[in-house]
Amino acid sequence: MQVAKMFDAISGKYDFLNHFLSLGIDIRWRKKAIRLLANSKPKFILDVATGTGDFAIEALKLHPEKIVGVDISEGMLEIGKGKMKAKNYESVIELMRADSENLPFEENKFDAVIVAFGVRNFENLEKGLSEIFRVLKPNGRILFSDALIIGGIVSHDEIAARSAIGYYLFSPPAENERLLETAGFRLLQVCDATANAQRIAGRWREARCKRAAALIAIEGQENFEGLQRFLATIETLNKERRLLRSVYLAQKPGTN
Ligand SMILES: C[S@@+](CC[C@H](N)C(=O)[O-])C[C@H]1O[C@@H](n2cnc3c(N)ncnc32)[C@H](O)[C@@H]1O
Repeated sequence: MQVAKMFDAISGKYDFLNHFLSLGIDIRWRKKAIRLLANSKPKFILDVATGTGDFAIEALKLHPEKIVGVDISEGMLEIGKGKMKAKNYESVIELMRADSENLPFEENKFDAVIVAFGVRNFENLEKGLSEIFRVLKPNGRILFSDALIIGGIVSHDEIAARSAIGYYLFSPPAENERLLETAGFRLLQVCDATANAQRIAGRWREARCKRAAALIAIEGQENFEGLQRFLATIETLNKERRLLRSVYLAQKPGTN
């Protein structure tokens, strides 16, 4: 419940914080990730930890019949529902409150399950993955990313800067692969997105540096410096591969 309260508290600012703090990486990642599912043409999609629904909206590009988005935070869902109504997506995208560790769906229901910027907020990823496995149809696919894989020595200051908002779990390399296998999945693809994340953080930091005076007038000195530190930390950690980002595509085995 600690996680739900945290996201309830920031839900009003989430879209801004997300696009801003993740430097637009979130938008690019969603677009690129959804393409990984295009070949499998999923008709029924579940977006776990949907938050304000941005990944569910991106999944419309796959032309599914139905997308269900679930989240434990009422606050995030309220913002999401307002967005679906305003954009007229309500007939395809349905948002509801549910915990990833106890999904209110029968088994073998969905063709694809997607999780964007969510798995490292789960209190129990192992339980979440086994629930996702249960509700996927045979041959159904799971797609998620993890930007908090530890690749080397990281100081407590760097960890604090990188996890500026909220509850996060950092994991060692190969842990997600192990958890996917334990849940019963067959890993199809792991893409290393570390260099990409580093480049974007670097470009963003430099662009902000060039406009420092104007930004300080808007954000204040302290916020400006805080965000520059955040970006520099990501850039350094990614560049030195002490923090890694990967995208995972895995499949529930078929019945034959
Ligand atoms: C960083 S946000 C990502 C939201 C969205 N997927 C996006 O792309 O913007 C993480 C979300 O995970 C949700 N969450 C965390 N633990 C969860 C759980 N056990 N079950 C369902 N949602 C959960 C939070 O409430 C929050 O909305």
